[in-house]
Amino acid sequence: QQPVISVNPAFKLSDIDDKTYSGFTEHMGRCIYGGIYDVDNPLSDEDGFRKDVIEALKELNSPVVRYPGGNFCATYHWQDGIGPRENRPKRPELAWIGLESNQFGTDEFMKWCEKVGTAPYIALNMNTGQYIRPYLSQRQRPLTSIQAPSMKANILTILPALAWVEYCNSTQDTYYANLRRKNGHEEPYNVKYWALGNEMWGPWQVEQMTKEDYAKKAFQWAKALKLLDPSIELILCGKEGQDAWDYHVLKECIKFDRHARGNDGCLIEMHSIHLYTCSNNHLENVTAPRAAERCIEMTGALIDLVHAENKIPSHVRKQKICFDEWNVWDSSRANGRDGAEEKYTLSDALAVATWLNAFIRQSKYIGMANIAQSVNVISPLMTTKYGIYKQTTWWPWLLFCKYMRGTTIAVNVQSAEYEGSTKPDWLRGAMETPWLDVSASIKDSVVSLVVVNIHESKSFSTKLDGIPSGANVEVYTVAGDNIGVINTAEKSEVEVKESKWEAKELYEFPKASMTMLRWKV
Ligand code: AHR
Repeated sequence: QQPVISVNPAFKLSDIDDKTYSGFTEHMGRCIYGGIYDVDNPLSDEDGFRKDVIEALKELNSPVVRYPGGNFCATYHWQDGIGPRENRPKRPELAWIGLESNQFGTDEFMKWCEKVGTAPYIALNMNTGQYIRPYLSQRQRPLTSIQAPSMKANILTILPALAWVEYCNSTQDTYYANLRRKNGHEEPYNVKYWALGNEMWGPWQVEQMTKEDYAKKAFQWAKALKLLDPSIELILCGKEGQDAWDYHVLKECIKFDRHARGNDGCLIEMHSIHLYTCSNNHLENVTAPRAAERCIEMTGALIDLVHAENKIPSHVRKQKICFDEWNVWDSSRANGRDGAEEKYTLSDALAVATWLNAFIRQSKYIGMANIAQSVNVISPLMTTKYGIYKQTTWWPWLLFCKYMRGTTIAVNVQSAEYEGSTKPDWLRGAMETPWLDVSASIKDSVVSLVVVNIHESKSFSTKLDGIPSGANVEVYTVAGDNIGVINTAEKSEVEVKESKWEAKELYEFPKASMTMLRWKV
């Protein structure tokens, strides 16, 4: 069967949120230290930030970067990371079993974001609040301007979070806003996005929670945070979007109260889900991101269900999905405690391309998505002492970041399917897995069509419907000698090849490749 791809630029489906191309920097492995911050390296600027990393990330034009974790959040105390560096305490780090020097903290991250041209997204520590200190030291040190007079243990834990928002965003004459000023930052940072914890369900978390405990606490935190700053957007901690956890926390936290501050009476703006896919079997590897697509559909359905069940008025904006950790990662292949420095193959690059196709196809649900992570840790971008290099996965990531913006448009593919084993197993039957994985967008009258040929050894001569014959098409191809090739600091086996094509009826999509075709309508 000859494949047929029909694209219809006039049939607009939904807007692609620019935040689909967001990043993530965690105090993990060499992401912060040795990645974005490398104080003794001649490649760094006067603030200790790696200039080559900043330049590379600027090209992606990512609107948002998440910080400081990840699992790291669970025992992170943001006040350890502000003020004069020589006074900052070193702490044991329990997520990745290391030592946190706190030489890079909130103010450094804000400055780095400014240099990259991106906005910060902070994940709050909902696990351990603060080292015993707050209760014992409240007389010596005001915690936040809105603290309650009698503090119970569960109230205590939110105070550092409120204090963090106050430090970052307040313009008032209050303790933490003044502390920011004292640290040299007169103007507020206006951090808009705040996550209510990270993977709170995970057995690996310090102070893991049940869904009941989390939902109760998240709702109360959301209320208090919005009292302090109604302009912020809150991101609820979900799982993979298809779990009893997701349903329960959505049901308990997506409520309407016309007095509530934020989103027209609803405290939560987005629901976070996480997924990493990977397999050493190429076809399992490149089809696994379809599971993410199914998770997105199911999360969208749960949000709809909860709106109906909780009788949320129709004027309240539906919560979007914040897919704030996604990527190709096998933790047995690249262990977190060793810094999780994956070496990505061409197969992985194609998997990243199918991940991104899924985001485009499902753009109506996606409010933000953050590649995990931006530098060194399971990342497309790597540093060495002497420079940076781009892994295979960088190239599809770059092409999507640059061109797949605007609006998702209708595209139909008729192609034979891969019918072997899938990872996870439930994927088989839940989603289609055609040999050609396709998405399309339009921006400023330019159509971008992405076709990932997942077949390892077969190219497909494909009939293209919807590209006017003779149109001048820009072609970007990501391919390599075989699916196992990797890029290193010394040698790039996979890059983007650019060419031109005068549109005809048939296009041959090479084996194991990603192709982006762009033309003006
Ligand atoms: O991105 C690496 C880790 O994966 C994050 O810290 C955690 O949230 C997830 O399990």
